[in-house]
Amino acid sequence: MTIEDRKTELDLQARPPVARTATDVRKKIADARARGQTIGLVPTMGALHAGHLSLIEHARRRDAFIVVSIYVNPTQFAPHEDLSSYPRPFADDHRQCADAGVDLVFAPTDEIMYPPGDETRVQPGALAIGLCGPHRPGHFEGVCTVVARLFNLVAPDFACFGQKDAQQALIIKRMVTDLQYPIEIVECPTLREPDGLALSSRNAYLSNEERMRALCLYRALSAGRESLLKGDAAERAATIMHETIAQSSPPDAIDYLVAVEATNLQAVTEATRRVLLAGAIRIGKTRLIDNLLVDLPPLRT
Ligand code: PAJ
Repeated sequence: MTIEDRKTELDLQARPPVARTATDVRKKIADARARGQTIGLVPTMGALHAGHLSLIEHARRRDAFIVVSIYVNPTQFAPHEDLSSYPRPFADDHRQCADAGVDLVFAPTDEIMYPPGDETRVQPGALAIGLCGPHRPGHFEGVCTVVARLFNLVAPDFACFGQKDAQQALIIKRMVTDLQYPIEIVECPTLREPDGLALSSRNAYLSNEERMRALCLYRALSAGRESLLKGDAAERAATIMHETIAQSSPPDAIDYLVAVEATNLQAVTEATRRVLLAGAIRIGKTRLIDNLLVDLPPLRT
């Protein structure tokens, strides 16, 4: 037996087992299907926190065989971004998966996800143009490409995504419809710290001082929500968000802070019933995103 074979054997004996190749993951999924189980996938880049665990909890409620993928996907990082420094605490992630009752961890290597000579990409459309689109060139193409490959390898019945990455969730739903994957996309609410900061793997980069400043985004979004709920127009809510963020201990940069129609990320119109308040800011070297969904009262006829 080679050292590689021995490693694979140990991975597959771990609890939960760790599949690293296409063959391993397909075999484990086929076994679960043969037992009559439905398959739920929670795609992640690891550095698991309570937000990820809440997605796993949603999947568990459906009584499925739960696969968590842990893969820091290089194609969704632009050259100047934090790919090399992105946290990779695999042993801790694996332990958290065990505690959360995950059935299988899929932790592929780059060679599995991007075979030698790889050149095929999944390109999203208009939904990827606004919000994070211009600030992270190629990001959503990388996300669609890796998620499509994960869907092909795991072939789940459903997959859980966080509202925290609202644009990503919308783009994935569009991709599933367009590419006709028989997969239900389950959107799960954003988990927050008690003071409102959305949990994120990137929060680990923040110093104490930056952590305090990071709250300005949630404060601004909350002020925007209050404005919409008292009947202000979307432009007014956006102005209030900008005023609020300027008044709090401000971020080092604002990539965007907007009020858009939640279904298509376009400008809010008379017909809009659900508004997405969304922002991306930079605190020191860290980029943080967050959003709130606001339902407007039904139109009077
Ligand atoms: P990652 O940032 O690890 O997030 C994995 C999933 O966890 C995403 O669906 C994200 O929306 C969700 N999530 C993150 N923070 C959350 C929070 N505070 N509350 C609830 N859910 C939260 O998103 C990615 O990875 C990648 O782009 C991926 C889809 C895995 C493709 O590489």
